[in-house]
Amino acid sequence: MPPAPAAAARLSADPLIRLRVDGADVEVPDDDLSLLDVLREHLQLRTPKDGCSPQGQCGCCTVWVDGAPRVSCVTPVRRLAGREVTTVDGLPPEVRQRWADACTQVGASQCGFCTPGIIMRLAALGGPGHDGARGVPDAKVHQALLAHLCRCTGWQTVVEAAHLAFEGSGAADAPPRDPVAAARRAAIEGRSPQRVGPEVALGAGSFADDTAPADAAVALPDGSGGYVVADSAAEARAKRHKVQGRRTTIELSHPVVVPPGSWMLTLQTTWVEPAYVEPDASWCLPGGEPASPCANGGAFGGKRHSPLPEVARRLSTEHQRPVRALWSREDVVRLGPKRPPIAAGMAPDGSGVLRVGVSGDGPAAWWEELERAVARVAPGLSVEPFAVIGPPVSGDPRGAGWAEAAVLAVCASTVGSSGPGPHRDVPVEVVAPDGGRAVATYGSDDAITVSVAAGEVLDDVTLRSYCIGAVHQALGWVRSEGIAVDAEGAVHDLTIRSFGIIPARSVPPITVIIDRDGGGEPVNGSDAVFASAAAACWLADGLVPTWPTRTTGTR
Ligand code: FES
Ligand code: FES
Repeated sequence: MPPAPAAAARLSADPLIRLRVDGADVEVPDDDLSLLDVLREHLQLRTPKDGCSPQGQCGCCTVWVDGAPRVSCVTPVRRLAGREVTTVDGLPPEVRQRWADACTQVGASQCGFCTPGIIMRLAALGGPGHDGARGVPDAKVHQALLAHLCRCTGWQTVVEAAHLAFEGSGAADAPPRDPVAAARRAAIEGRSPQRVGPEVALGAGSFADDTAPADAAVALPDGSGGYVVADSAAEARAKRHKVQGRRTTIELSHPVVVPPGSWMLTLQTTWVEPAYVEPDASWCLPGGEPASPCANGGAFGGKRHSPLPEVARRLSTEHQRPVRALWSREDVVRLGPKRPPIAAGMAPDGSGVLRVGVSGDGPAAWWEELERAVARVAPGLSVEPFAVIGPPVSGDPRGAGWAEAAVLAVCASTVGSSGPGPHRDVPVEVVAPDGGRAVATYGSDDAITVSVAAGEVLDDVTLRSYCIGAVHQALGWVRSEGIAVDAEGAVHDLTIRSFGIIPARSVPPITVIIDRDGGGEPVNGSDAVFASAAAACWLADGLVPTWPTRTTGTR
């Protein structure tokens, strides 16, 4: 177990609050702070994560208070005098180990940002003392997971890990794995360096804001293009214009107009939030190299061009001290690039036009890459930019542009050969631009099967986990995800719950078959799964021409 937190130094004139954290007595100033602020900022405990504070919606900051799970970002520390707080660091060693092994064994933790909070929630289902329970039903696990968000895993492996942990089986039953090969597969699938192992599940993924020096200043966007810099996160929040996240009643819009033509299939989509759970963060020492916001996972491309490393570098030089540059959840939604809205038409012969919504000054550096990728998967489609008023967009989020093109091409081919549908039990194949191949089938029983060929497998557990996560993302993309944008281009869906991500209890059973026949160099397989599963879902749902197709009950 990591060392117990040291008692906080008495630095302010405020009265002290005394509580126990992970078995140690601590005193913290009564500064009107949340428990999460106290844990991360005062006590330097970095396993509870901040994915959305103060929204209280992602669950990443979940800890126990007197043995019951609590979302620490909305828990005022003032109410906790004399109480017992437990983070994942303070769990009994055998409980920690059991959950870490269970998550590792089935690939229930990819980037790992959400996992410590999920472990704290699920371990609390384990009965008296939370150290053992048998036969916790799926429905109870699903209910508990409603308080959490995971963008990577697609939930199924999380539920599997819960069963393993509750049944008491663990690493001893698991076939041996090569952590280096697993990390290599994870990096290929996530398109960013990633560790694989029990320490990641326990919150030690070395995310940028977890490795920042304790004495670093904090920089936050000021709402007008600059950054406020202060000694602490609480001071920086107080200094800047406060923008509280909210859920909107504004409807989703489809700003790109379908190109004129005589089409067999048309598709219109809206802006989609990449919705990675770890907000952008970096830090830098004066004259040093900034920490990467992609230290353990790159949000499937979503953080590829995060501006925060350069912000941290510049401000650390300006202020001649270490600086943490952070985005809150609302900042990520307002400032981070979205999957662009599109509109397209495709004729029976596979020819057609794909319009991609671009805001600001028009197509940027990613445009040529997008055109090349579309040409690989749907050579009959011409691609054209379409000016829209809205948040920044990019070709970086998973398969942006080419996955839409691939979906149109395979669905048009199915309609051409088998009629307008709906179609279930039909295998749908997509070969991604970099060679990964996937065949997805949406069954009459609502179960989804995907077969994936991605060269040398390296690690079955990791590849399977990423493919399940890709199916989950695909279903959300087709059916429920999108963010509302008003006529002036302002995003209104600022809370993490409003993005339309499908909860654990609504994910159908997913079976992954790994096709080893081709062998060869390992390539990304889950992006092909993402596109093929989206196509299979769209065919199953009857090719409704606007996405998301079903928002009721999910947004
Ligand atoms: S950070 Fe507390 S719920 Fe998201
Ligand atoms: S593993 Fe859950 S958000 Fe990445």
